[in-house]
Amino acid sequence: MGYCQNLSVIVLAAGKGKRMKTEMPKVLHYICYQPILYYVLSSVKKINPKNIFLIVGHKAKGIKEYIEDKFPEIETVYQQKQLGTAHAVSMVKKFYSDLGNNILIIPGDSPLITSDTLKKLVNKKTAGKSSASILTAVSPNPEGYGRVIKDKSGNILKIVEETDATEEEKQINEINSSIYCFDKIDLFKNIININTKNQQGEYYLTDIVEKLVKKGLKVSCLKAKNNWEAIGINDRVQLYRTEKFMQKRINIKFMENGVTIKDPDSCYIGAEVKIGRDSVIEPFCFIKGKTKIGRNCIIGSFSQLTDCEIGSGVNIGVSAVTINYDGFKKFKTIIEDNVFIGSDTIFVAPVRIGKGAIVAAGSVITEDVEPNCLAIARSKQKNIKDGAIRYRKKKKESNNKWED
Ligand code: UD1
Ligand code: CA
Repeated sequence: MGYCQNLSVIVLAAGKGKRMKTEMPKVLHYICYQPILYYVLSSVKKINPKNIFLIVGHKAKGIKEYIEDKFPEIETVYQQKQLGTAHAVSMVKKFYSDLGNNILIIPGDSPLITSDTLKKLVNKKTAGKSSASILTAVSPNPEGYGRVIKDKSGNILKIVEETDATEEEKQINEINSSIYCFDKIDLFKNIININTKNQQGEYYLTDIVEKLVKKGLKVSCLKAKNNWEAIGINDRVQLYRTEKFMQKRINIKFMENGVTIKDPDSCYIGAEVKIGRDSVIEPFCFIKGKTKIGRNCIIGSFSQLTDCEIGSGVNIGVSAVTINYDGFKKFKTIIEDNVFIGSDTIFVAPVRIGKGAIVAAGSVITEDVEPNCLAIARSKQKNIKDGAIRYRKKKKESNNKWED
């Protein structure tokens, strides 16, 4: 915990998100059932900093409501006019005396960053006694990102935004992730000298790098081990690609912990879901919210499980759906150990299925089922003798009439 007490984090989320073409705050768009911002803040929280400041501005109301609900310990800071990333960071100056000596800055639109990499970046800065450390990534598709310009010995000189880059600079494939750890004093001393002389007319935080280097201060780079950690979401195509990365990451974690996922490309599982060892998730399953699944369960294809609790040894046939929301309030479905559920079953929460019960295929379950009961909740079948013959005859007659 030691150094973390000396660390403050600034997350930037005030920008307009123009390229997203949206009426919503960009960072509240969902990937794998959580807002983009959820993943960024979860990684930040894991490194246990002294305090976290979130810069909000464009569509601030929605973001503030989300933060008050899910991350109440985070301080939101208002940037009234979105004049650029350097201007956004300068909004935190009023909290100067509360800040740690190390300032970690992260854009709110980069949900794939992990807490491990954040820790490494802070260590790089502190252990190497740098004024700043920058997380970079070597990307096969550097378009749209700031490029890292280095001298022949590999020392960083500056960062150039794509819109300001020369054709030669655009060939560089080492990109700026926009994640940095700065020395507090050097950051706030130099940020005030940044100007807007660039293609976009904004105060770029990236310009601080050249200023520090020119003063002879040490600026180091940490190359991300996985270049996807640096992905920022600016438009809907990046939103889709990032969701695919997140889906893979979440599913791989479950597999590493002993869960079989038959076709991970077709299954979406939320980051807060828990699944016990030796459970099997068949293709095309969607598991959301804080759903808990015990050990040795089988979840059949096309099941959609939301906020529910499933014991161990439960077998769910294909196409089960748990319905948790009545349009006003959310409720839970509880399925206890060793329950067997037939295909095409719908659970309208709140309902509890007791241990060892069997639920017949095609049931719509609206009431609790006692342990070891057999529940059938569907209309009774009628077989009408020669009904098919009469039906066809009737159809033929009415068709003939139509043709007349
Ligand atoms: C930024 C970097 C770029 C880097 C890329 C990585 C700058 C100038 N450029 O570009 O080098 O490769 O991220 O993803 O920093 N924001 C504010 N207030 C503002 C402007 C922006 O809070 O006035 C926030 C945005 O909401 C966003 C973050 O800062 O979360 C980054 O802004 P964005 O416009 O997405 O920068 P990029 O063009 O992606
Ligand atoms: Ca961005």
